[in-house]
Amino acid sequence: MNIQELREKFNEVYGEGGDIREYFAPGRVNLIGEHTDYNGGHVFPCALTIGTYGVARKRDDDKVCFMSANIDNARVTEASLSDLEYNKANGWANYPLGVVWAFDKKGMKLDKGFDMIIWGNIPNGSGLSSSASLEVLTGVILQDLYGFDKLTMTDLALIGQYSENNYNGCNCGIMDQFAVANGKKDFAIFLDTSDLSYEYANINLPDAKIVITNSKVKHSLVDGKYNERRQECAKALEQLQTVVDIESLGDLTDEEFEKYKSAITDPEVLKRAKHAVAENQRTIKAVKALADNDVVTFGQLMNQSHISLRDDYKVSCEEVDVLVDLAWSVDGVIGSRITGGGFGGCTVSIVKNEAVDNFVKTVGDGYKEKTGIEAEFYIVDIGDGARRLS
Ligand code: GLA
Repeated sequence: MNIQELREKFNEVYGEGGDIREYFAPGRVNLIGEHTDYNGGHVFPCALTIGTYGVARKRDDDKVCFMSANIDNARVTEASLSDLEYNKANGWANYPLGVVWAFDKKGMKLDKGFDMIIWGNIPNGSGLSSSASLEVLTGVILQDLYGFDKLTMTDLALIGQYSENNYNGCNCGIMDQFAVANGKKDFAIFLDTSDLSYEYANINLPDAKIVITNSKVKHSLVDGKYNERRQECAKALEQLQTVVDIESLGDLTDEEFEKYKSAITDPEVLKRAKHAVAENQRTIKAVKALADNDVVTFGQLMNQSHISLRDDYKVSCEEVDVLVDLAWSVDGVIGSRITGGGFGGCTVSIVKNEAVDNFVKTVGDGYKEKTGIEAEFYIVDIGDGARRLS
């Protein structure tokens, strides 16, 4: 579906006329810096050219109406601005509703409701941030339709995160919404989550491609496990703070961590903290390596990131490990790792141009043989952040 067709669908569902506007918000892939964003560490994501399209128009009453053109025979989900309480039955519409609720909570009242239709091409549950894309899309729509001109893209990212944390119950960090909001074509974002300062880093890889491989598995209880990791890190921080003056795990170097780690009593919690500290340091090194055109070091750091996420942070799974092992076996693969929250989803690999076909064949065939699943491959194009289209 393209934006024109989505607009036609909007007309069909809600009727023609009035000030109908079009919007887009991308998905994201994180190159390195995983599970560091709620530990005051660094991340290095970029926005994709796939994402979520939205068409919207203000209404004259206080209803807010949502429909997804991705769902066959979908019906409109309706709510009222005077009752924005969470209701499980609203399904996917709880993401845009959460953002409406968050605007309200932050004192930005909508005078009237609106109609909205979406269509997206981010595979669901792939770890490429379809929910953050939808949240920031909604933020951009509300900002534009209701004239909240003072809000910055970072404000919209924070509102999206706030809604996900407090309305949809996943205690996520800021990385996804930030990348979706502030993405820039051909650049990744080196974000320090301790103060939200960031720099754009040009991803200029003339000899290689960034390839995403979708395992097509998503293990249940993802949010539960995610929230559990957060709690483990909080526990580690609390115990470390009894021996060293730090605000977050991201404040520590690997050496400092070695020095103070005996304060952490639970051996599993210790592993989680070790990952958070080391991954932050790896991210800083990786961005430096890229600036020095040393893509080999960047790739090695990606591989180390995977091992740490697999063995210490324990957010990988059998299927994703199969993908990464296969990737590592291919000549011309510079680095490969799980990306995103984990427990399924995608891997991200840097593959030399001439090796891409063989990569797709070897990883695709091997994965099919071992798991029975057809993996999907996407060559990454780094795109711009969320925006109004017309
Ligand atoms: C999910 C969360 C992010 C981040 C990643 C792991 O995508 O939404 O905030 O924590 O997992 O790096």
